[in-house]
Amino acid sequence: MKILIATEKPFAREAVEGIKAIFAEAGYETLLLEKYTDKAQLLEAVADVEGLIIRSDKVTAEVLAAAPKLRIVVRAGAGYDNVDLAAAKAKGVVVMNTPGQNSNAVAELALGMMVYMARNQFTAGTGSELQGKRIGIHAYGNVGRLVGRKAKALGMEVAAFDPFITDGALFEADGVRKVESVEELYASSDYLSLHIPATEQTKRSIGYKLLMSMPKGATLVNTARKEVIDEEGLKAALTERPDLKYITDIAPDSKDELAALFGKRFFATPKKMGAETAEANINAGLAAARQIVDYIENGNTRFQVNK
Ligand code: 3PG
Repeated sequence: MKILIATEKPFAREAVEGIKAIFAEAGYETLLLEKYTDKAQLLEAVADVEGLIIRSDKVTAEVLAAAPKLRIVVRAGAGYDNVDLAAAKAKGVVVMNTPGQNSNAVAELALGMMVYMARNQFTAGTGSELQGKRIGIHAYGNVGRLVGRKAKALGMEVAAFDPFITDGALFEADGVRKVESVEELYASSDYLSLHIPATEQTKRSIGYKLLMSMPKGATLVNTARKEVIDEEGLKAALTERPDLKYITDIAPDSKDELAALFGKRFFATPKKMGAETAEANINAGLAAARQIVDYIENGNTRFQVNK
């Protein structure tokens, strides 16, 4: 049984060693493809493997076609918009994610990004504090909940909107105000932390109207996906409202233009770093390895996302 770890953005060494140990114990062989620069390298590496662990690496129909023995792909992380689920299903390949395993790292970064913008990107001048400010959490999943708890510890007023959670008990238990519409959330948030996945429904859904409705001096924080932003709308809102700010962990297509136009009101990390901690790599990587063994040995499909 051959399992490939294909990570353009490699895991921490400790995570790779841990994954290898889990597979060795199961009697599997681990292959490693890191920092690859060309799709052809991935196509070649999958030729003989039955299992695949990835991060944001793209598993397209072409990659699946190049892997005739493939049985399972595990995205070590939350978002699986980088995998062609339908093509995998058509080939009988199970796709899983590892929900929650890297959430803390992303939540910590979201809060850090807020401080960074509140303090003028660590340059001279008077900044502001997070304490007492209103934070709106758009989608209350694993990351959103952690952001909420940490924000409360900082003395922020926390509200959240999630169209898929109708039961208010979850919000109540966390002491978080449950907001009934996305419009209400944006209109009442000094900081808006995005945690929605990139789907056909959410792509380009955050734009001019929602941004323009935000309170004076508001900051939009994106540790989710660039695709959910309508970049033209964002640009128009930042142009009309010199008080608005945008910080993102996923560089927009128009990054250079936004940086030139908006100076200290815009920042994008050079490479997505939300889940770039040793802890997150170990949690997600080892969970991915265990899920592969559990599927191959016992048929466990608990975390399958393409049923
Ligand atoms: C996720 O969906 O889990 C995060 O976006 C992390 O992605 P990464 O593994 O590519 O850093």
